[in-house]
Amino acid sequence: MNEPELSNPNSSTVSPELATKLHGDDKAIYIRTLFDNISTRYDFIRTLIFLGHTSLWYRQALSDLDLKAGDKILDVGCGTGESTRYLINRYPGINIEGMDLSSGMLNEARRLSPALTCFEGDVCAIPCPNSTYDFVLTTFTFRNFPERNLALAEMLRVLRPGGRLLILDHFYPQKPLWRSIYTFWMRRIVPQIVKPFIEDLSPYRYLAESIINGLSVTDFKLLLEHCGACVLQTNTYTGGAAGRVIAVRQQENIELID
Ligand SMILES: C[S@@+](CC[C@H](N)C(=O)[O-])C[C@H]1O[C@@H](n2cnc3c(N)ncnc32)[C@H](O)[C@@H]1O
Repeated sequence: MNEPELSNPNSSTVSPELATKLHGDDKAIYIRTLFDNISTRYDFIRTLIFLGHTSLWYRQALSDLDLKAGDKILDVGCGTGESTRYLINRYPGINIEGMDLSSGMLNEARRLSPALTCFEGDVCAIPCPNSTYDFVLTTFTFRNFPERNLALAEMLRVLRPGGRLLILDHFYPQKPLWRSIYTFWMRRIVPQIVKPFIEDLSPYRYLAESIINGLSVTDFKLLLEHCGACVLQTNTYTGGAAGRVIAVRQQENIELID
């Protein structure tokens, strides 16, 4: 196999399998380029791939959060703003901001909702002071982050002590039969579904590999505890294909952990 050209990690120089193992700047550049390239078709193709389940997962994971008018909320990796819009509609009066690494995804968010407050930033260096937010969430993003511990430490740092962090993501189902069906769907069927709409299939191959090689809900719980957060609740949906973890920031000072 040729050595990937990591000075310019993108879908033509790095295989989707290798991309799941990138870290740091290489991962950030790969991911930013990937989402910039698919931003205008992202929502439509995602609805096809997950058969419209994303809306159901938002309802299951985001409708029981007891957020109050005036609560200051950060949606990390807000993408085209679907999760942000869901929360604005569900909890009128909240004060929510979206942040994303990809300017293409943010442009799409602004096109769809001109009133949305959103800014460009990397979860590994959130451009906000400590203890800014009452609630931080990140939906379907975590597998893409350049450094997991740093991402968690940063999200906890910008939360006020006692504030909650919610992670909603795709997971690899645990039951063997469901796992086989899911693998077949993601690796064999999804490329066929997206082919008519997109020339370069690698973002969707990366999506499949990042889920198959991703963390479990239990891994998340351990990581969060390792970062000094207290896990309040874990839930799985659709046979474990999606799940959420809610944790609370306990300490005054969150230490970065390697
Ligand atoms: C799969 S999309 C999910 C978007 C949105 N949260 C949703 O539920 O529709 C993942 C998003 O995470 C963003 N992202 C990936 N890595 C990031 C990082 N290091 N910092 C901030 N955003 C990041 C991507 O640019 C992309 O918009």
